[in-house]
Amino acid sequence: MRPILILGGTTEASHLAGAMADAQLPAILSYAGRTLTPRAQPVPVRIGGFGGVEGLVEYLLREGIGRVVDATHPFAAKISRNARTACHRTGIPLLRLERPVWRPAAGDRWVSLPDMEAAAAALSGVPRRVFLAIGRQHLGAFAGVQQHRYLLRLVDPPVTPPPFRDCSVVIGRGPFDTGAERALLERHGTEIIVTKNAGGEGARAKLHAARLLGLPVLMVERPASAGESVARVEDVLRWCHADLGV
Ligand SMILES: NC(=O)c1ccc[n+]([C@@H]2O[C@H](COP(=O)([O-])OP(=O)(O)OC[C@H]3O[C@@H](n4cnc5c(N)ncnc54)[C@H](OP(=O)(O)O)[C@@H]3O)[C@@H](O)[C@H]2O)c1
Repeated sequence: MRPILILGGTTEASHLAGAMADAQLPAILSYAGRTLTPRAQPVPVRIGGFGGVEGLVEYLLREGIGRVVDATHPFAAKISRNARTACHRTGIPLLRLERPVWRPAAGDRWVSLPDMEAAAAALSGVPRRVFLAIGRQHLGAFAGVQQHRYLLRLVDPPVTPPPFRDCSVVIGRGPFDTGAERALLERHGTEIIVTKNAGGEGARAKLHAARLLGLPVLMVERPASAGESVARVEDVLRWCHADLGV
């Protein structure tokens, strides 16, 4: 059977890699190489960009890839777009594994915003203590809003200083739990949270903690996605087997 390429970098991709190993499906998990210490995996791993669409096409053909599962983060729009184009060109079946969006529940004080720039604009005004829970890539969008005291949480210690006059950095990788998230928000006197609508369980606890503390959340919504998509690992396994005619 030809190898299945999993485009990863998410908890779901790791779960899928485990499930494919258990099912004895020949998977290869691909990381962009953003984190210093990626989790150990039960399938072969490759690390680093492919070199755009051309590089991905070349990789797919060279490795004899039979299917591609795009299990990347909902905000990783470029690799998803590249995967669609490369799979279309080569005729290799592609499936997107994507966790459902978070939806507000009673007691939540969310403001939905289309992108980081809108979230930065919404933060204009009086100085506040802001938990900028967006990872490291988009911090620059907030560089023009310097009156706040920022709390950042990053997977790895920053190589270059964050672009803020007043900020604290905590290092941490999910999954997080509500009690610890609440304690973190209280310790830093957080008044407002900015986050991406990533979905999934690992990062949800901060939203529960915000609800308990009555804190507002600026929720940056996902970029649009396209193509066939499923939400569960079992659905991907079924797709692999259906494709085999099993
Ligand atoms: N964006 C987020 O908020 C976020 C959060 C958590 C985890 N992640 C994970 O971090 C990675 C990078 O995210 P991003 O937002 O920088 O992605 P992106 O903007 O969509 O992709 C930028 C470039 O990174 C390379 N790349 C991305 N994912 C890759 C993968 N799984 N395997 C090999 N190359 C990959 C590709 O380089 P080439 O063009 O050279 O092939 C791609 O063009 C993704 O794997 C994603 O799942 C992202």
